[in-house]
Amino acid sequence: MIKVLIVDDIPETRNHLTKLLSVDSEIDVAGTAGSGEEAIRVAMELRPDVIVMDINMPGMDGVAAAEIVSQRLPTSPIIMMSVHGEAEQLRRAIAAGAREFLVKPFSADEFSTTIKRVYERELGRREQLQAITPAPSGPQEPGSAEEDHQVVAVFSPKGGAGRTTIAANLALALMSETGGRVCLVDANLQFGDVGVLLNLNPKNRSILDAIEGGEPDADLLESVVVDHSTGIRVLLAPPSPEGADLVTPTYLRKIIDLLRVTHDWVVVDLPPALTDHTLGIMDAADQIVVLSALEITTIKNVRLFLEVADQLEYDRSKLRLVINRSDTAQGIRISDVEASIRRPVDGTVVSDGRLAVLAVNRGVPFVVSHPEAALSRDITRLARTLAGEPSTSASTEKPKKGLFARR
Ligand SMILES: Nc1ncnc2c1ncn2[C@@H]1O[C@H](COP(=O)(O)OP(=O)(O)OP(=O)(O)O)[C@@H](O)[C@H]1O
Ligand SMILES: [Mg+2]
Repeated sequence: MIKVLIVDDIPETRNHLTKLLSVDSEIDVAGTAGSGEEAIRVAMELRPDVIVMDINMPGMDGVAAAEIVSQRLPTSPIIMMSVHGEAEQLRRAIAAGAREFLVKPFSADEFSTTIKRVYERELGRREQLQAITPAPSGPQEPGSAEEDHQVVAVFSPKGGAGRTTIAANLALALMSETGGRVCLVDANLQFGDVGVLLNLNPKNRSILDAIEGGEPDADLLESVVVDHSTGIRVLLAPPSPEGADLVTPTYLRKIIDLLRVTHDWVVVDLPPALTDHTLGIMDAADQIVVLSALEITTIKNVRLFLEVADQLEYDRSKLRLVINRSDTAQGIRISDVEASIRRPVDGTVVSDGRLAVLAVNRGVPFVVSHPEAALSRDITRLARTLAGEPSTSASTEKPKKGLFARR
């Protein structure tokens, strides 16, 4: 039986819709709600297989409610109902996470067919996701030692090097390779892009909301981290740049330490600057993926960063040097980079602009949509490297002062 929740502000409509479905033996109307607010509450309780929601309701309308429900219950697909089939309404509904649109009035047959179709599609989607997400094993089993949990920071001294792209896809690859629980953190506090890349835009669920009461708190943090439909968890950057000031380096570090307790992997997308914020996370990190390009200024900055890392006494094995867009060399070879920075390159990621752009436009990372592409395989290989040779945890290092004071 498909468990359905009907949401409409008019009681007669709710009764009418319930009646339309009562003749179908495969569908069970498990509950109804008369407002957006009630819809959220009842949906969380019932966890319906399908939600049918009216777009126009007084107070919180269908779009606002769908936005929240689709974030909290990504496995309960929403069908939006409206009296007009306007393109603008359709666009808003889909942007809010609705999977299908029904224009009133509709027949009983049309109604139940749409519900079944949306439900079947959701089952198919879950199957696909399961195929890339092996059953939890290893580090996620009960009794797993927290010491096994790792923080992986993704850094580059240059903006636009591909940190966000690689961090998001790496988080997914770590989840599918190890079966572990993974949290992706957007530490680009002013201009975070992770939400755009993963098509996530929930209200009041950014890192700012985790420090509402001052000190970050484990329970508050847990309620703010967003469950992405792929299975990874995401801590988003503040919605606007001015929010960044409120997240102090100490708070940020505390948040990373708290997330490490409840996740096997914490992958952090770092901003391209050596500030107290980034250094605090680098201290906490077990591994730092340092992205370079086959381009002279980036290589120079990577070399400078590696010198700083030496002065900070980071273990060499903590740093993983990765060349992004490794096949777009203009006269520079990997061996030239290795000679310049006097250490071997740990991994390479090919360039595939078409796939990278497609993934951003769709809001689905390419390791999920195109696992066989060379770009995805490179990132999966990197995930295996990170998972295969855990370095010793650095979380016990004492927080230190800013870069120049340290040097
Ligand atoms: N291997 C790749 N092949 C093709 N395009 C790529 C690759 N890696 C990244 N890109 C593209 O390069 C652009 C910059 O990537 P991304 O936003 O991940 O970099 P970033 O270092 O996070 O940048 P920012 O400094 O803006 O935070 C994006 O358009 C992305 O799609
Ligand atoms: Mg970025």
